[in-house]
Amino acid sequence: MEIFAHRGASGTRPENTMPAFRKAAELPIAGIEFDIHLTADGEPVVIHDETVDRTTDGTGWVKDMTFAEIRKLDAGSWFSAEYEGERIPSLREVLELFHGTAHRLNIELKSDVLPYPGMREKVIRLVREFGLEERVILSSFDHVTIREAKREAPEIETGVLFMEILADAPGYAASIGADALHSAIPYAVREPGIRAAATGSLIRVFTVNSREHAEWLRRSGARAIFTDYPEEMARLFSGD
Ligand code: G3P
Ligand code: CA
Repeated sequence: MEIFAHRGASGTRPENTMPAFRKAAELPIAGIEFDIHLTADGEPVVIHDETVDRTTDGTGWVKDMTFAEIRKLDAGSWFSAEYEGERIPSLREVLELFHGTAHRLNIELKSDVLPYPGMREKVIRLVREFGLEERVILSSFDHVTIREAKREAPEIETGVLFMEILADAPGYAASIGADALHSAIPYAVREPGIRAAATGSLIRVFTVNSREHAEWLRRSGARAIFTDYPEEMARLFSGD
């Protein structure tokens, strides 16, 4: 079972911040996962929500703030006083950190409600600039984004994100050019998911924080899990 640190080591550090990524970079795990939005002046930044309200001391939409404004926010205190003053990272900063490791990097292109014109192209450009094409996986709940990413950068792996128990996820993934199925837990432990894994589909599952779920998934044939507790899960699967 491969372990991906979900938003970095987000169970023990503020999600999507450099401390969460530095912790993940030290661990013997397959990779990390993180989320991208675009600032008003076109900088890809690493944050889960489309507003800064939940994970910083500010308020407002990422799309309406410049990178300089975003960088003034405290992205650590909401989690613990120990992380006061941590900043929202740029994508460039995270790629710089992992440039020297062997981890896979799952970049989730967020598109909760409004689209971010040009974000996909910018992310692909940066991945190529760092020469990380073979280690990056681009994923999104916006499946048009996945289809276009595969057209623009066929050398970069793509994962289609979904919550539903799809009857034919491999067929659907093939129709949009996705290389992997990134599913919620129920699909992966039920008949369509078990059949898909048995016939060679690559299934990565979110978000898996319990030992029981992780063990069901191993038996069901999933290849990888996204977890907030990568250290504990790495220990659980260390014999694999
Ligand atoms: O990429 C898997 C998972 O991160 C998708 O859900 O909401 O945690 O971004 P979310
Ligand atoms: Ca995500």
